Amino acid sequence: MLVLGIETSCDETATAVVEVEGAAYDVRSSVVSSQIDLHARYGGVVPEIASRAHVERLVPAVAEALVEAGVEGPELDAVAATVGPGLVGSLLVGTSAAKGLAIVWDKPFVGVNHLEGHLFAPFLEEPDITVPLVVLLVSGGHTMLVHMVDRGRYEVLGATLDDAAGEAFDKVARFLGLGYPGGPAIDRLATQGRPDAIAFPRSMLNDGLDFSFSGLKTAVVNHVRKNPDVSTADVAASFQEAAVDVLVAKARRAADDLGVGALSLAGGVAANSRLRERWLDACEEDGRQGYLPSHIMCTDNAAMIAAAGAWRLEHDGPTPLDVGANPNLALGPTARR
Ligand code: KG4
Ligand code: ZN
Repeated sequence: MLVLGIETSCDETATAVVEVEGAAYDVRSSVVSSQIDLHARYGGVVPEIASRAHVERLVPAVAEALVEAGVEGPELDAVAATVGPGLVGSLLVGTSAAKGLAIVWDKPFVGVNHLEGHLFAPFLEEPDITVPLVVLLVSGGHTMLVHMVDRGRYEVLGATLDDAAGEAFDKVARFLGLGYPGGPAIDRLATQGRPDAIAFPRSMLNDGLDFSFSGLKTAVVNHVRKNPDVSTADVAASFQEAAVDVLVAKARRAADDLGVGALSLAGGVAANSRLRERWLDACEEDGRQGYLPSHIMCTDNAAMIAAAGAWRLEHDGPTPLDVGANPNLALGPTARR
């Protein structure tokens, strides 16, 4: 099955053609047009600017994905697009385009939950991945521990009560004057600092599987205000260590509680080098299989949307064309609407 994926939920205009054969995926093309340059000066994503940029970039990105894959539109078997969660204007650009293309080429349209897309990302690179699996999904908008009972069957074990992990990285980076997006900037600077320089709080470390990052962010702000000469690299490294400590500890505990032998990371924060290192160490220590999608598969892309779309099409059939974008779409037990 050849699926065109379209992802426009936030600030990346992404398209991809994925060939699906059973549980195996061949990413024939994957185009990501980042809007970072447009939003950087505002210190975060400006929804109206994002929507307009998607309008300008999506058609060329679809053409590029088809050319790179060596595929003509009518040869596709389905058109899949993210229908939520995300910025509503941005989602509408992708879903409207996908429906239009599906009508023109007379192919099924499949609406995909962005979070389910992230959960499929590890499968695109690891064909032998085993389920059940515990996935730590950490992005700019979400922080979730998910028990992936099987492909398409999920149990949300824990989530953030306030800021998402990526949001905490972005806000701390902004406070430290490191620019946007903050995650990669903190990651880079942290390599020059000491992770044990400042004992920032590990919120809710031993308390259930939910997360809270706003206290950590406030602790960073208070510490820097009280110690204006503190090394910014030490602050970055110590903040990152506190966040990673909690993320790794809870994922480990979830896998212990459930007796699950495999752990995977997903979402933009999964690109964090310290989290990746600590993740693999923890898995090795516990004798678990630890999966790490590549950086490009961690951050938003359309190959993961095409993969999740193919699965949805096979199991639920096409999505009716009157299903619209849903900015608050949740990850239910089956990610169905
Ligand atoms: O999954 P994603 O591309 O978009 C959303 O669905 O949100 O995640 C973006 C988030 C941003 O908050 C960004 O700062 C964070 O992922 N991020 C990182 C790193 N690379 C991206 N956070 C920490 N370390 C990184 N290396
Ligand atoms: Zn995402």
